[in-house]
Amino acid sequence: MEKTLVLIKPDAIERKLIGEIIRVYEKKGLKITALKLIKPSLNMAEQHYYEHRDKPFFTELINFITRSEVCAMIIEGKDVIETVRKINGATDPLKAEEGTIRRLFATSKSENSVHSSDSKESAEREIKIWFPELV
Ligand code: CMP
Repeated sequence: MEKTLVLIKPDAIERKLIGEIIRVYEKKGLKITALKLIKPSLNMAEQHYYEHRDKPFFTELINFITRSEVCAMIIEGKDVIETVRKINGATDPLKAEEGTIRRLFATSKSENSVHSSDSKESAEREIKIWFPELV
């Protein structure tokens, strides 16, 4: 079965939204098969966002994601990568569709509450970073 890696990011953890966000995924019938709270090390954050290393917002991104704990999850199901990205909504909450997690909870392009893998290759790579004990 297809897997994706989801992070509930520091802005949402700090506003105590873990339960509400998990509820959105579960209400859509998705199955969470692994879950942990973890304060990312600098190394984990840089590995996770490796493809953005040359972007102007990279330092901001790393500072943000290492600011407090994140909730890392594996969600499994048919076409789960695409399904979860739809449920999350566009990166910019102002462009995210009604009812999406980012429209509901995100406050800016960087403090956008959730991350999910964008392809099967990214999911495999990201699951190794956040759940090394499972691979
Ligand atoms: P995420 O899905 O975690 O993957 C890359 C992240 O980079 C993205 O969500 C945003 O949080 C962040 N990001 C993308 N564009 C910008 C931007 N213009 N300014 C700050 N952060 C950004």
